[in-house]
Amino acid sequence: MEIKFIKREKLKEKPLGNLGFGKYQTDYLLYRDYKDGKWEDPIIAPFENFSYNPSMYVLHYAQETFEGMKAYRTNEGKVLLFRPLENAKRFMRSNERMCMPVIPAEEFLICVESLVKIEKNWIPSEKNSSLYIRPFMYATDIGLGVKASKTYRFVIICSPSSEYYKFEPTRIYVEDYYVRAVKGGTGEAKCGGNYAASIIAAENAQKKGFSQVLWLDGVERKYVEEVGTMNVMFKIAGKIVTAPLDGSILPGITRDSCLKILKSFGYEIEERKLSIQELIEASKKGILEEAWGTGTAAVITPIGELYYQGFTMKINNFEVGEVTKKLFEHLKSIQFGEFKYLDWSYEVK
Ligand code: COI
Repeated sequence: MEIKFIKREKLKEKPLGNLGFGKYQTDYLLYRDYKDGKWEDPIIAPFENFSYNPSMYVLHYAQETFEGMKAYRTNEGKVLLFRPLENAKRFMRSNERMCMPVIPAEEFLICVESLVKIEKNWIPSEKNSSLYIRPFMYATDIGLGVKASKTYRFVIICSPSSEYYKFEPTRIYVEDYYVRAVKGGTGEAKCGGNYAASIIAAENAQKKGFSQVLWLDGVERKYVEEVGTMNVMFKIAGKIVTAPLDGSILPGITRDSCLKILKSFGYEIEERKLSIQELIEASKKGILEEAWGTGTAAVITPIGELYYQGFTMKINNFEVGEVTKKLFEHLKSIQFGEFKYLDWSYEVK
């Protein structure tokens, strides 16, 4: 694989002030086309609009997958990625599920690293900000038949971003009508369709003053699964409880990292089915001590309140809990290279 580079004549102005999330695009993107059963060489080109045929498969049947990663600038000016191999591997699994060609992990990493190297001046140095990296792939065949496309485009774009949510307690609506995923569906794949299907519930919750929804399982609407853009964890009577990876939830890399960190802190972890009824009981007994979401974009988001069918579970008096705070600080210190942990940081040189 050889990466071609098309230089742009003039670089863009960098944004000033609050970056928001995903609002700004950098100077370049990377794309790579799949044709005749194989991947062509990637091209790093100026970030510009693509033109498309309105019959392109992805626009009709949503054969699409994506990833979310970040590049961090350390105090010494180094550039770090966080467990990028895990993204590469998950992207392969998502593509297999969506009947799309895979990109070998090594090639995925070379593509990400090459683009980040060129765009390193776009990595913000403000606190809690980073360069959000969005690799994605979509079906590009032309036609309206429902079948796997034979051609695809893989693209990586980058966006200098600040935090997705502020690090303060959020109010979450427990969704009891819509469901996100069922076993055998696409719940554990990172594909746009999962998010499209979730929007109606998120919009309804926002109208009621909540920031996101907590999904229950798609069969009984009984067991806790995940929150809109993140996995979710609870501290109940001193133990950490989270839903197991049993096919319908996203295998979050931040989720996995948090569980490993919490284990290293000495907490007992239970990856198991947790019913909403059990949460309500725990809340009534005063043993629902903390709750937080985990995700690449969301990092750690404290949950201050859960609302389910007329019952409000206030968590830790709507204040950020001790474990939530410790986890957030620890994870950030690893991601920003202040603390070396296992082989989780990958330096882009
Ligand atoms: C991420 O955390 O990177 C995600 O992909 C969530 C995104 C939908 C905001």
